[in-house]
Amino acid sequence: MLDQWTDPSDGDEHRMFAPSSYAGVRRGLLEAETMPAWCYTSERFYRREVERIFMKVWNFIGRGDRIAKAGDYFTLEFAGVPVIVVRGTDGEVRAFANTCRHRGSLVAVGEGNCRAFRCPYHSWAYGLDGALLSAPEMEKSTGFDGRAHGLVGLRLESWGGFLFLNFDAEAASLGSYLGDLPEVLASYNFDDMVCVRRKEYDIACNWKIYVENAMEAYHVPTVHRSTLQRQKGAFAQPQPTRGEWIALFKEHEGSRALLTGDVGFPRIESLDGNAAKGTYYPLIYPSTMFGATTDCMWWLELHPLSASRTRLIVGSCFPRKTVARPDFEEVVQRYYKRWDISIPEDNTISALQHKGLTSPFNRAGRLSHLEPLVHAIDNWVLDRVVGGNAGP
Ligand code: FES
Ligand SMILES: [Fe+2]
Repeated sequence: MLDQWTDPSDGDEHRMFAPSSYAGVRRGLLEAETMPAWCYTSERFYRREVERIFMKVWNFIGRGDRIAKAGDYFTLEFAGVPVIVVRGTDGEVRAFANTCRHRGSLVAVGEGNCRAFRCPYHSWAYGLDGALLSAPEMEKSTGFDGRAHGLVGLRLESWGGFLFLNFDAEAASLGSYLGDLPEVLASYNFDDMVCVRRKEYDIACNWKIYVENAMEAYHVPTVHRSTLQRQKGAFAQPQPTRGEWIALFKEHEGSRALLTGDVGFPRIESLDGNAAKGTYYPLIYPSTMFGATTDCMWWLELHPLSASRTRLIVGSCFPRKTVARPDFEEVVQRYYKRWDISIPEDNTISALQHKGLTSPFNRAGRLSHLEPLVHAIDNWVLDRVVGGNAGP
């Protein structure tokens, strides 16, 4: 019997990453145990996830319309790595490591618009394409070649107007990572949407706690009993998928982005197939969730900060035509109201769960038939983190 009382991060790395420690999680859903608490609380386990997951996969970092004009940029720190994302004069969005090629200072902070990045330390300047433009007083430095000292480029690809970053030069393309997701979600026409609000939260929980929560509806009658639970209907159902994503789908009338009784915008005209009948809740591994409903979409983007801290970014997108309506600002408040109630409900329960998992008396739990995707997520993580397989 696995002893979860002792966190093996205190030296017993072998046990933490031995496949035999996870035999209970590997069983079929209705026989399976939950992950050992250390998977959520240990910094050592978290560091392995950064190395084998976040440094290898296509990480979702928001939407290109955040930097609509040439020279628009934003910075972020993703899984501990400082990054600059900027739109060039050619309209292309590029990502660079935010570390000066002189003595390593951050080159840019925050967000804004610029014609070039000037390092705040000794004024080395870089173009929007990362090339070194000027480096004062360097002409006496033997053999110094400015062309070899541009910002280090990072891989960035986009789909549907969304940006994805990959730290691994060897990784396969975003297209192969997403599998059939672009096809299944094609009729939402995400390319034609506009992000109208972006909101950040810091949550005292492990990133997996938040992902697991988003991918099961078992908690809805309890956590959202006075809000979302009033949107009646059966539990959302897992969908077949190909690629590094999974999804729930729920059939219903109306929009899932409104509270019961509120009237919103017209439907997205292009919807077909399942998309026309309800709402998709996809998870793009490892940590981006969408709610794609009949009149809009919202995303939940997680940036892991440590084993016990996660930044959540919530973006809201509507079709360009909807945003152009004269009543947009007035009516969109009903959608904001729904998100501003339901999302903090999930944030609060996630922090409570994390705190509970730090108890030395925590023991392996069991899963219900309503948590197949919690089981899938945990096994996806173990496939990459445990043993010698480095995963995609
Ligand atoms: S560290 Fe950037 S110019 Fe010196
Ligand atoms: Fe929830």
